[in-house]
Amino acid sequence: METVTKPNKGISGCLRVPGDKSISHRAAIVGAIATGTTEIIGYASGLDCSHTLTCLEKLGVTIERSAENRVLIQSAGPESLEEPDTILDAGNSGTTMRLLAGVLASIPFCSVITGDSSLRNRPMDRIVEPLRQMGACICGRKDSCYAPLMIKGENIHGICYQQKIASAQVKSAILLAGMNATGYTILEELYRSRDHTERLLKWFGAQISTEGMRTTVTGKTRISGRRVTVPGDISSAAYFLALAAATPESDLTILDVSINPTRTGFVEILQDMGANIALIDEKHYGFEPVASLKITGSALNAIEVRPEQIPNLIDEIPVLAVVCTQAEGVTRISGAQELRLKESDRLTAITKELNKMGANIQETSDGLIIKGPTPLFGTNVETYGDHRIAMAMAVAGSLAQGTTTINGADCVDVSFPGFWDLVEQVKQ
Ligand code: S3P
Repeated sequence: METVTKPNKGISGCLRVPGDKSISHRAAIVGAIATGTTEIIGYASGLDCSHTLTCLEKLGVTIERSAENRVLIQSAGPESLEEPDTILDAGNSGTTMRLLAGVLASIPFCSVITGDSSLRNRPMDRIVEPLRQMGACICGRKDSCYAPLMIKGENIHGICYQQKIASAQVKSAILLAGMNATGYTILEELYRSRDHTERLLKWFGAQISTEGMRTTVTGKTRISGRRVTVPGDISSAAYFLALAAATPESDLTILDVSINPTRTGFVEILQDMGANIALIDEKHYGFEPVASLKITGSALNAIEVRPEQIPNLIDEIPVLAVVCTQAEGVTRISGAQELRLKESDRLTAITKELNKMGANIQETSDGLIIKGPTPLFGTNVETYGDHRIAMAMAVAGSLAQGTTTINGADCVDVSFPGFWDLVEQVKQ
């Protein structure tokens, strides 16, 4: 349980957020199928990315974790992976389970991967179906819809796959499977989603190219270990951007976050709403563009968010809803039905909890309608065990009159250990 209150003045300061979660998972997994040493600097500190490392260790990969979030991975390529003598545990992390399933589809041994009760209720048929098309032997509970998943590695082959849902996790599972499949694997996206897998595989020397919405990977090519510096996670920065945007007199800088164009949807939406956000000190960390973000508080207007924009801000929609309660006019978000299949049903969760605080939000089958501005009032709110709902409620509580008590606040540790201290720090 945590309590939050409104700051006396605007929020201010200069902070760093943990390393990008999506890039960290991928750097570890790609390092495990590469030959040689991969050094990862700034590995994400949350429990989710730690689960990926533990699973890889159970698969026989040598991993050294040192202070300052530096991770060293030694591998001799995919054929050096070993059959785990126990069940792999992905915890709360969908990325761990789906990406590892792609890798394990071609490794000649049996493995079982499971997760916590939230993950065991998230759909896995979205990866089972394409992996089976590639020749994989994979099954799970309830007609292979849910984990635990049992995977027996086979000689798999490339496919041409057209995505029916926009999901970077599904795309990545297929591309990673394609790395050890015969022939070419061609993946066509519905809407462009985060492209960290493509960028990382290229950085490690894979034959992979993207033209328009199509990515092609050549199977059975060797890749070599590399050094990866992970930028700050823009999805973690989003809570502080939201708080600064909606609090007058704020002036906040968030250092060195990924500004990969497939991840900056939230920043662009805030700018369209009238927020002052400047990108400073732009640079590259090898394969990823990085910048610091300077934001000052200002008046905000409502916005329309369309389906094709959703993948670029998928994880930021709960906190966007919080910001929109403070914006002038009616915000409409559509095409966001995937939010119902995250760590919780995020459309229902955010609507219910923000309305308890005085917001005017209506849930639709695929989105939200938010009428603003409405004052928020502190009360007792729930997190549904979902880190992104917990952090969105921390922002709401910091904009509200009175005290907000957030029950089940510990779940933020899956992506952002230290979050609650930073929230207090920027209020001083
Ligand atoms: C992720 C992709 C998104 C996102 C998740 C991380 C990734 O999921 O919600 O937090 O690292 O690929 P989907 O690809 O299932 O939409």
